[in-house]
Amino acid sequence: MILHDDDKRVLDGEGGEARRLAMEMLVALGKIYDAEKLIPIQSAHVAGLSYRSHGDAGMHWIEEMADSGARVSVPTTLNVIGVDRSRDLGLPGEWCDKQLRINDGYVRTGCYGTSSCVPYLYGFVPRFGEHIAWAESSAVAFTNSFLGARDNREGGPSAFAAALVGKTPCYGFHLDKNRRAHVRFRVTVPIDDLADVGALGAYVGSNIGVHNPAFAGLRPLRLEEHIYLSAALASSGGVALYHVEGQTPDAVMLGSGIYADNYDEVEIGPQELIQGYERLTSNSNRQVDYVAVGCPHLTLNQVAEVAALLQGKKVKDGVTMWVHTNIPVKAMARQMGYLQIIEDAGAVLTQDLCTVLSIPEQRGLHSLATNSAKMAFYAPGSNRLRTWFGSLKNCVNAAFTGCWNA
Ligand code: F3S
Repeated sequence: MILHDDDKRVLDGEGGEARRLAMEMLVALGKIYDAEKLIPIQSAHVAGLSYRSHGDAGMHWIEEMADSGARVSVPTTLNVIGVDRSRDLGLPGEWCDKQLRINDGYVRTGCYGTSSCVPYLYGFVPRFGEHIAWAESSAVAFTNSFLGARDNREGGPSAFAAALVGKTPCYGFHLDKNRRAHVRFRVTVPIDDLADVGALGAYVGSNIGVHNPAFAGLRPLRLEEHIYLSAALASSGGVALYHVEGQTPDAVMLGSGIYADNYDEVEIGPQELIQGYERLTSNSNRQVDYVAVGCPHLTLNQVAEVAALLQGKKVKDGVTMWVHTNIPVKAMARQMGYLQIIEDAGAVLTQDLCTVLSIPEQRGLHSLATNSAKMAFYAPGSNRLRTWFGSLKNCVNAAFTGCWNA
């Protein structure tokens, strides 16, 4: 691996101990993946901030980093955490305090406390062809695929190391040769609802592993549908990049040039879509005590949809409904009156957190309904929640009745 003189000086400790350690990690990663060099990045996004993943050791580590003067050198956003900084959601106080200490530690290193998995929707928008080091698998798939940025599936530590140094090893999706599609999925079944998009992503993700899928035959997908497709592909599989013929930028620019030599062709029909739904449903008890939507965090448009379904109705006693979004969207929802409608119905519009990275199960919740493929995939393991997966309308109905009737 060829290191620039500046890189060598950082490795010799010229930029301080935190940058030296970060550079060591990046060089080690580069050697593992046969990177020829380090390349400058324009931004970073650090994930894995939950107290669930950091524990006490990680909390003390980031506090010591911040105390020692470690500072990021590119615009760096922070992913979702496990608490809502605006309100008490009835989660254990000590757990929340420690979660906030972790977040504050990163903020003291110069990161922006965005607490969201969709910072690309509000001001941190990677451009086509730009090299970045983002963690959060759904955001990686979205920025690579929908925006055409160049990003690998960073973990929290490697994204933070890249943020400190301002560079990342040049391998994987930073190289055009690795951005070709290996399988062309010809979609012959109608994809109508956001949940259909999730089921499609779950089916393809679980079948393709870490290869790159391309889709043919899809109607033009809305922004939110691309966000949900990214999340489903990245969670059910290891997908970091997908193409949609005629829609995503690499596909528009390269046409059939997006395909690798000898790519496979697979048809997605009604049976495959049903299998996608089945993979995301782990529940058999039709009683529902928890409804959660907003994974990835909802856009204002989606919050408006939720408000329209909840307007003038009431979430059933004994059912908790959390609607996950971020600070900017919640502020706009307040201005638009959606927040009032949602809260009048007895649901909660959360900011900063999400089900998977928080601990709603510690409030005694067991049976979840969601329209998010990523939440449905992870919640059984991370939150011990049995899960129904389906449309937003079905989820809201479950909130009204306490029962999954789809
Ligand atoms: Fe975002 Fe949490 Fe889902 S980070 S993608 S809301 S699991």
